[in-house]
Amino acid sequence: MPSTSIHGTPDYAELFNLGLSPEEVIYFSSNINPYGPPPSVVEAVRSYISRDTLARYPDSLSISLRCKLANHHDLPPEAVLVGNGTADLIWLICHRYAANRQVAILGPTFSEYADGVVMAGGHPTEIVLPGWERIGTGRYAPSPISFQQTCDALAAAAPWLVFVCNPNNPTGEYLTPDQILALRAAAPHAIWVVDEAYSAFAADGWSADRWVLDGGWIVLHSMTKDFSLGALRLGYLLASPYLVEQLQAVQPPWNVNGLAQFAGEAALDELPWRDQFMAKMRRDLADFRSDISHCGYAPRETTVNYVLVPVGDAKTMRNRLLKERLIVRDCTSFGLPEYIRIAIQREEENAQLLDMMRAIAQEEHLTHKRARAERLAHITAPERT
Ligand SMILES: Cc1ncc(COP(=O)(O)O)c(C=O)c1O
Repeated sequence: MPSTSIHGTPDYAELFNLGLSPEEVIYFSSNINPYGPPPSVVEAVRSYISRDTLARYPDSLSISLRCKLANHHDLPPEAVLVGNGTADLIWLICHRYAANRQVAILGPTFSEYADGVVMAGGHPTEIVLPGWERIGTGRYAPSPISFQQTCDALAAAAPWLVFVCNPNNPTGEYLTPDQILALRAAAPHAIWVVDEAYSAFAADGWSADRWVLDGGWIVLHSMTKDFSLGALRLGYLLASPYLVEQLQAVQPPWNVNGLAQFAGEAALDELPWRDQFMAKMRRDLADFRSDISHCGYAPRETTVNYVLVPVGDAKTMRNRLLKERLIVRDCTSFGLPEYIRIAIQREEENAQLLDMMRAIAQEEHLTHKRARAERLAHITAPERT
């Protein structure tokens, strides 16, 4: 059953059990911009707070923010719907469209799609992304599986709804516009949901927003990630006015609070701030990948602010690092129990993680060397006597 879902965000119960507060640990597990929110947004929110603004109900339609988002994407306001985080919109889409229907989910990927589908009474079908293969129930491994195999599986599933995360969480892989169109051609009658929660982090970010007015597309964005509004929660979707109207009809009223709407508008004035830090994070991640490679790890390629690193047993590695108050994402729940996912943080924090991972790699190297020497001694001992 859903909502056993594991996330990289603070697990307050775990922290409570460890006697720690969120400020005492570093979250490499949460894919949020560590430099935000922009100072001007914090200031704007502060100045917004008054007895009146806290007492007043928010605009249920988020009209002002919606118009600003529409302008940003060069779409009409009727093509925008704001939600209490992107997760809220994923569940809304499932609630509206998934019941009793086949829903294809391209994975390994974010668990909320399958959870939302099951909760809505739909039937999720896992379709393996190119470059991966399924090696057991819900378990994946890298593989040269071809793009055509993914298309064939999609066509066979004949889904009513498709979820594709692009760039993908947790793999950091990013499909091009041509690849998305080729996939869509395999299931042309489905509504395609493209989750672009991480597109701002990619160097060559692009958006499927260019197709939404044609119908049949829903594009998701999260302002929680790139502007660091985790506590306020803010996401939005772009779709044809027809789909937006259908979704709006089943959205609970006032579910986006007034502070979040106001912060969202202020954040949209800070796109240069955002892009400057996105570029910095890409440089820092490239350095980090190179540094841990020198320690003996083999991080995968990525296009965004997080990277998958194979470590043998992800759970053990997470627990080792947790003792040092460094939290990485154990990817077992994604079907990748050998991988951890690391989201780049501030430079001094990255250096701490690097030091610990280097120490762990050296320790393991010594343990292996010792075990090998013992094995050899055991084999040769009888020969000596
Ligand atoms: C791919 C993806 N989509 C959506 C979300 C949820 O975003 P939000 O915090 O805006 O609800 C996440 C959060 O981890 C995510 O990884």
